Amino acid sequence: MSETQINHQIRLAARPVGPVKPSDWEMTEEPVAQPQPGQVLVQVVYLSLDPAMRGWLNDARSYVPPVGIGEVMRALGAGRVIASASENVPVGAYVSGLLGVQEYATLDGAALTVLDTNLAPLPTYLGALGMTGLTAYFGLLDIGRPKEGETVLVSGAAGAVGGVAGQIAKLQGARAVGIAGGAEKCRYVTEELGFDAAIDYKSANVMAALSEHCPQGVDVYFDNVGGEILDAALAHLARHARVVICGAISQYNATGAMRGPANYLSLLVNHASMTGFVVFDYAARYAEGVKALSEWVAAGKIATREEVITGGIERFHETLMRLFDGANTGKLVLQVAD
Ligand SMILES: NC(=O)c1ccc[n+]([C@@H]2O[C@H](COP(=O)([O-])OP(=O)(O)OC[C@H]3O[C@@H](n4cnc5c(N)ncnc54)[C@H](OP(=O)(O)O)[C@@H]3O)[C@@H](O)[C@H]2O)c1
Repeated sequence: MSETQINHQIRLAARPVGPVKPSDWEMTEEPVAQPQPGQVLVQVVYLSLDPAMRGWLNDARSYVPPVGIGEVMRALGAGRVIASASENVPVGAYVSGLLGVQEYATLDGAALTVLDTNLAPLPTYLGALGMTGLTAYFGLLDIGRPKEGETVLVSGAAGAVGGVAGQIAKLQGARAVGIAGGAEKCRYVTEELGFDAAIDYKSANVMAALSEHCPQGVDVYFDNVGGEILDAALAHLARHARVVICGAISQYNATGAMRGPANYLSLLVNHASMTGFVVFDYAARYAEGVKALSEWVAAGKIATREEVITGGIERFHETLMRLFDGANTGKLVLQVAD
């Protein structure tokens, strides 16, 4: 690579209010930074699009600091090492890590995970074999703790985390009921992911559909969306139910107060619990999760799906918005290079 190679980047230009606008971003360019001792230079090939990105833009206390104005947008990604000053990560290795929305990332080799592309294609390491799969694995098994014969309800069921969570529930011998937007997503959830039933929240009466599909009540509710759907699920809890607060995408673009769970006293009468978690809490156990997920994927017990959008970082904004429009099925990924 020549010294004058240019790195295009997407930086935060303004803090969004409500949905992110194109003018909240700025595209910049600078020379590619060559690696210093211990560092590697990665050509970014795929970027992970995550609903959490919207939260990272708010100037509020959270589990990570907000992205600063003028900073390169934070993003998980996967790419190939094209120059290395690290003993542990050679040129040619495929890696994943916090690469940012840019074409090249220069960062410590120790901050990267080396990937085996013989086991799975690169985008899968951003989906079922990456942070997405680990979120489903630890959230469902550690907090939801489904038992054989129990009913596990998953919202955002056709999405990246929800699709994996429901399939893991089935592997535990539970019944999995999904909630997703639209007939085609519901078909995908039942026919391709193997859920026992799916509720189209855009056309069905969710309260009535929950009574129909969860007649014994919901033992585990894995919530990705919050808002009205969380309230409907709370109204259908079984005794000793566990509610897993994974996310609340319906509230991320709220300009006023977020809608909270009005039916929370259902936790009291059902001796139930509601617990939030962040996947990073489980960093010390990632190897366990990756091993289990890899075995399930290799054995065909978990179906994976990534929706890869091409066109490079110029398409970052419109691709991010797909998450909030419900345009993605499975893990949403942006391809940055061939
Ligand atoms: N706790 C953690 O550590 C952690 C880690 C990763 C992700 N998460 C959370 O997990 C959730 C799922 O993330 P993901 O990456 O798997 O995204 P995803 O589900 O693949 O994509 C987002 C989906 O959310 C649904 N959605 C969008 N707006 C909605 C609304 N107003 N009401 C109901 N559904 C809506 C859409 O599906 P429909 O077409 O079905 O509406 C959309 O396709 C998010 O809340 C995310 O923040 C948490």
